[in-house]
Amino acid sequence: MINETLTMIPGPTPVHSRILGALARPTTSHVAPSFVEEFQQGLAGFRALGQSETAQPFIVAGGGTLAMEMALVNVVFPGEKLLVVSHGYFGDRFGDLAASFGIEAEVLKSEWGRAVSPGEVASRLEAGSYAAVTVSHVDTSTGTCAAVEAYVEVLRGRPELFILDGVCATGGIDERFDEWGVDVLLTGPQKAIGAPPGLALCLFSERALARRKSRSRVPAYYADVMRWLPVMLDPGKYFSTPCVNEIVALAEALRLLHAEGLPARFARHRRIALAVRAGLDALGLKLFTAEDCRADTLSVVLLPEGIADAAFRKEVASRGVVVAGGLGPIAGKAFRLGHMGNINAAEIVEALGAIEGGLVALGVPVTPGAAVAAAAPLL
Ligand SMILES: Cc1ncc(COP(=O)(O)O)c(C=O)c1O
Repeated sequence: MINETLTMIPGPTPVHSRILGALARPTTSHVAPSFVEEFQQGLAGFRALGQSETAQPFIVAGGGTLAMEMALVNVVFPGEKLLVVSHGYFGDRFGDLAASFGIEAEVLKSEWGRAVSPGEVASRLEAGSYAAVTVSHVDTSTGTCAAVEAYVEVLRGRPELFILDGVCATGGIDERFDEWGVDVLLTGPQKAIGAPPGLALCLFSERALARRKSRSRVPAYYADVMRWLPVMLDPGKYFSTPCVNEIVALAEALRLLHAEGLPARFARHRRIALAVRAGLDALGLKLFTAEDCRADTLSVVLLPEGIADAAFRKEVASRGVVVAGGLGPIAGKAFRLGHMGNINAAEIVEALGAIEGGLVALGVPVTPGAAVAAAAPLL
C-alpha cells in the first residue's frame, strides 16, 4: 500500500484531485488549439486573481525564484539602487539577487517575527534614491505578513517601482494590483493557488513594462520579459517550450479558485488560520510571529522546551502529516505549518490530531482532543 501523506508544509500544498486530473491529461503540442485556449484561460485567470484589468501576465516554466529574478532584472538596472523590505529569508533573497546583477540593494530588515513599520519605509525612501522597492507579502520563513496596504499609502505617487512577492500570499490573502499601484506582482502556483510547483508567475504594470522597454537589453535571456511578451499576447507563438501539463493544471486551479470566489477564499483562509491557532493554543503551543503581523497562510510554531525538532516532525509524519522545520535562526526551535490553498476543515482536524499525537508520544502533557475541540467550532 502506498501511504498517502497530508503535506501541511508552507508549499507545495495538497493538490486537489481535479487539478491532478488536469495535470495528467495527455501532453499535447504546445501550439495545439486546445492548449492555446488553456494557456489563455490561465493568463486571464491569473490577472483576475491579481484583481487587475490592465496588468500583463507572464506564465513561465521555473519557480518563485525565477519570478523574483524576472521582476527585478526587467525593471532595475545594474548600478541602480533597490530598497528591499525584508521580513526574513525570502525578503533577504532579493538582496542576493540584486548583488548577482550589479544592483545596489539596501535591505531594511525587521527583527525575525516582527514587521517593518510603514514609517521606516517612508524615512528610507525620503533619504535615498531608489529605482524600486521590494516587499514580500508573506515571508514563509517567519510567518510575517507585511502591512502592504499601509506601505501602499507611503508609495502612492512616488517614482519608485513597487515589486510585491506574493509567493506565500497570492490566492489566500487579498492582493489588489491596480488599486494598490503594484508594478510587479510575482508568485508561484504551489502555495495558496494550490497547483503543483514548476511555474514563475508575474503581473507587470504598464509602468513596469515601459521601464523594461526603456532599455534595449537587460542582463538576462530566459528571464527577459520582452522575449516572452509575444507568447503571452498570443500563446500560439514560440519562445521556449512551455510546460504544457503544468499550465493546464494551473488553468484548472484558477478555475477552482474563481469558482470559490476571491472574497470567500480569503475569508476561508482567515477562518482556518484562526481555527489552527486556537487548536495550537489549546495544546499549549506558542507562535513565533508577533500577533500584529501573522499571516493567514501559515503558522510558525515554537517547539516546547526540550522537544527536539527532528523527533517531533518524525512523530507527526508517522501519523500521516508532514510539517516543515524552521529556517535560519529558528531552525530546530520552531516548525512551520502551512494552511493555505485548497485545504479543508477535515485536513485541519487531521493535522491538529497528528500534532497532538506527536506531542503526547514525546511526553508533553496535553489534554487529549483539546486541539480539535478548540478549532472545530471556528472552521
Ligand atoms: C515568499 C517567497 N518568495 C519566494 C520563494 C521562492 O520560490 P521557489 O521556491 O518556488 O523558487 C518562496 C519559496 O518558498 C517564498 O516563500
